[in-house]
Formats: sequence, structure tokens, C-alpha cells
Amino acid sequence: MEFEAACREIAAAVEEVALPLVNTLEGAELVEPRSVHSETKLLDQVAEEAVIECLKSRQLCRTLVSEECGRIEIGGERGTIFLDPIDGTFNALNGIPFYALSIAYAEEGRVIRGFVRDLANGETFFAERGKGAFLDGVPIRTSITHQLDQSAMSIYGRKFDPGNVMALGRTVRRWRLLGASALELCYVGAGRLDGFIDLRGTLRVTDAAAGMLVCTEAGGVVSDRNGFDLTFPEEVRIGRCLVATNGPLHRKVIEYLR
Ligand code: IPD
Ligand code: CA
Repeated sequence: MEFEAACREIAAAVEEVALPLVNTLEGAELVEPRSVHSETKLLDQVAEEAVIECLKSRQLCRTLVSEECGRIEIGGERGTIFLDPIDGTFNALNGIPFYALSIAYAEEGRVIRGFVRDLANGETFFAERGKGAFLDGVPIRTSITHQLDQSAMSIYGRKFDPGNVMALGRTVRRWRLLGASALELCYVGAGRLDGFIDLRGTLRVTDAAAGMLVCTEAGGVVSDRNGFDLTFPEEVRIGRCLVATNGPLHRKVIEYLR
């Protein structure tokens, strides 16, 4: 089955089980985690289970790397899916309408398709390597902003050490923190934000893989904090820093972070 169509079916399955738990105490209940590296809430768990069931019945990949369960084998012939069943769980459970399902498909170590569904407003971002990025089927492009003092950016620094991003934060025109990285990367792709900078060192392949492809296919640039190629290990324990911009601002942002 075609990947985008399959993701739409998966998103519908997630919406059916997850949306009734949004903004409820039940959704926030802690459940037995399926792997050692995450604290899982009921909302995360039901969403992930719905995705796994769809992946298995359609044999959509060989391996799944997902935020709650870690790495599991699905049984398909090839390909790896990186999944965050709910990116922005805090938002979802606290009445903040900004949270998403993020699915990236990779072969031979390269992400070739990315799908991000905004579960609060129903928007769908999709990208295919070499074929562009789309919002609800319409091609998207990054912004043309080329001055930092005119830009709007989402900038995350380490919790108790925001010093490394303060200079940049003082320079941009609008500083926004929205709380769901997969969507924030897509917003850079769609030209709604001029950049997404995350220096916490906690972004993982499951959070970033799909949104990164949307951003770059829309004309954006994604790198590590020094401006070099960014690669994620294919597992959920290791986090990275990431700098995503519309392109024209990339070098300027990197200079500010030095
Ligand atoms: C959030 C997500 C999001 C990140 C936020 C986190 P949550 O965690 O990981 O991508 O940008 O800063 O708080 O809300 O899903 O537990
Ligand atoms: Ca998550």
C-alpha cells in the first residue's frame, strides 16, 4: 500500500483511540512502560498500540523504532519506521491544541518519506525525498526572511542553562516555544516559522525524522549546532541538538550560537 495512504489510515486509527483521552485525567495516567527509557502515559500507549496494529496488519516495514516501545520487529520485507505516536503529550493533556503523530520511513539509513498529522487541527504534512513537501496536498515552501531581527523562531535552550541561546533569542523579532518539535519543524517548512533551534540535546530520531524531511523538502536547511550534517542514531536513548531554518538565515543562526 502506498505510504501516504497507509499513514492516513494509521492517523485515523490513532485519532479514534487517542482523541477521547485528550485533556483528561485518564489519558495522563502512567502505565507500565514497554521499554526502559520512557515514562509512558495512557494517551501515548493507546496511540502507539493503534499504530503498531496497523503496521503489523499491513506489513509496512521490517523494523519499528518508537518512542514508547523502543525497537521492535514488525515483519515486513524492508524499511524502518521512526514513530512518535504523540509528540507534545503535555500539550494534549493540558488543553493546548498543538500535538501530533509523526511517522518517518527509511531505507538503507535514509529517511525517504515523512508524515506528520496535527492531531489538534487535522492538518497533514507529508514529504517525499526529492519530490517536495505538502500541507494537505498543497506544496509548501520555507519563508524568505533573511534578517534575524525580522524573524520568528522557536528556540530551546537547556533547562537550567539558557545562556547558549540568549544571544539569538534577543536578536530575533519573535521568540516562540510551541512544545511539539515534529510540528515546529513542519512549521519551518510551511514558512510559518523562520527557524526551529533546539540545543537541549534531547531530540531523538523519533521526534525529528519526519519533520526534518518536511523542512528540507520545502527548501529549509537542517544541521547540527555547528552547521554540519546532522545524523541521528536509530534508537530512542540518544538525543541531539538541531538547527533548522528557512535557508537564508542558517549561517547567521550558526554564527550566533558560537
Ligand atoms: C515534549 C515533546 C516536544 C518537545 C517539548 C517536550 P511531551 O514532550 O518532546 O517535541 O519540543 O519540549 O516537552 O509534551 O511530549 O512530553
Ligand atoms: Ca511522544
